[in-house]
Amino acid sequence: MSIAPSPAPKKLDRETLVKRIKTLGPWHMNIQLTDDLNTGQVFVEDGVKRGREEGGQGGDVSLLQLRDLFLKQIDSIYTDGLQGKTFLDCACNAGGYCFWTREREIKAAFGFDVREHWIKQARFVKAQRKIAPTDRIQFCVNDLYDIPSQNLTPSDITMFKGIFYHLPDPITGLKIAADLTNEVMFFNTSTTWGEPDGSMKAGWESTENVMSGVHGLKWYPTGPKVCADILKWAGFVEMKLIFYRQQFDTPHIGRTEIVASKVPGLLDNLHGEWIK
Ligand SMILES: C[S@@+](CC[C@H](N)C(=O)[O-])C[C@H]1O[C@@H](n2cnc3c(N)ncnc32)[C@H](O)[C@@H]1O
Repeated sequence: MSIAPSPAPKKLDRETLVKRIKTLGPWHMNIQLTDDLNTGQVFVEDGVKRGREEGGQGGDVSLLQLRDLFLKQIDSIYTDGLQGKTFLDCACNAGGYCFWTREREIKAAFGFDVREHWIKQARFVKAQRKIAPTDRIQFCVNDLYDIPSQNLTPSDITMFKGIFYHLPDPITGLKIAADLTNEVMFFNTSTTWGEPDGSMKAGWESTENVMSGVHGLKWYPTGPKVCADILKWAGFVEMKLIFYRQQFDTPHIGRTEIVASKVPGLLDNLHGEWIK
């Protein structure tokens, strides 16, 4: 990964920012831009119907507040900060995790997503975020399956969140990301709920919905056990289960998060349950 310096973009006034945020919607990530404006606030101000999670603008796209929990996890793994570390976000959406690692002095962050819609948002945030630096961050539109041809240098930390269950071949997809990870992977996926854990279940999804995959075929793991087996096969030697829970609005669906490491000891202070 190499980051070429680019000239500082012109910062827009509040009124123009609000207009641009609305034009670029819907937003999935609530990212603070200025002291009094974030990417989700305008939808709340407009009184638009709330989505699944707090502050959502309704419809298929739920607006999530992801920063604080993520940085809490980062701080407990990398207690000396992220100086000298590199970060890769697969399916980065509006790029929130790249911006938040920059708040912890990441050396370089690279995010890609298959949809132009999200990368436009990420580039807008990079240009207009005033409350923290946004240099050292790059984004591009890419399908995960095309990433091996990009010859990326492996990163220390990888985000693999919300993409596993949108892939026609999730094991190959995860291996692509694992092979680009030196230390830690944040893995988060939808699962089935109420079925014996240990397998993968096929299904179909829209290729048009901006939150979906683009290949149609999808696979849901039946719980964290099968995910941990695949992560172990992909080269991770220690893992912690952060959560496994039922999704309250769709009872047959669950959600799980696992943080996996290739370096023994890195997860010792992370809140979660060891997976043996
Ligand atoms: C459920 S959202 C998750 C977004 C973000 N990673 C998060 O956890 O908040 C799914 C994202 O995966 C992207 N995506 C789906 N299939 C992809 C693929 N094959 N390659 C890259 N991105 C993909 C979508 O465009 C969308 O941004």
